[in-house]
Amino acid sequence: MSSTTDFLRAHIRTVPDWPAPGVQFRDITPLLQDPAVFRVLIDAFVQRYREAAMRVDVVAGLDARGFILGSVVAYQLGVGFVPIRKKGKLPFTTVEETYELEYGSATVELHTDAVKGGDRVLLMDDLIATGGTMMAGKKLLEKLGAHVTEGAAIVDLPELGGSARLRASGMPLFTLLDFA
Ligand code: PRP
Ligand code: ADE
Repeated sequence: MSSTTDFLRAHIRTVPDWPAPGVQFRDITPLLQDPAVFRVLIDAFVQRYREAAMRVDVVAGLDARGFILGSVVAYQLGVGFVPIRKKGKLPFTTVEETYELEYGSATVELHTDAVKGGDRVLLMDDLIATGGTMMAGKKLLEKLGAHVTEGAAIVDLPELGGSARLRASGMPLFTLLDFA
């Protein structure tokens, strides 16, 4: 286990029974609060996507914590950022996808002009649980003809099976740490 992984893990707060009994909520806000920690976090992603083989044209962020990470990573990479939002928030024409969560269900939307056919997209969120959110985001981007180069998140919860399901579907994934 690398020292960066341990350093970042130490700044994630676990809140038991939130938002529902039995859920161990992994709260990433302490990672953002301290500027030195936030920099280590963002640099871990930026370093990877600056590599020539990983070059992306666009970063897409999943509502809501994927916005925080994705927009900063996009800025650092010098590419655009597009938000994938919960239903009813985007004003222009959209494509939509409904999926199941660890605790409920949701529909996400993407503006139809957010990406172009053939764009190489980095899809970002804070955490992968069942993988439903990341999969829905990938489907939206593919509906518009874009290619998801990789899904990226801070945390993987492997016991919920999402990362395995995503990888089995052929989606490359990059996560910084897991809580088994
Ligand atoms: C959380 C998290 C991911 C998603 C992961 O968001 O930020 O987006 O759940 O779960 P999954 O892998 O089972 O899909 P949430 O839906 O709670 O929304 P929020 O960002 O608005 O809090
Ligand atoms: N999203 C889905 N499950 C989660 C969890 N256990 N902690 C934080 N965000 C989540």
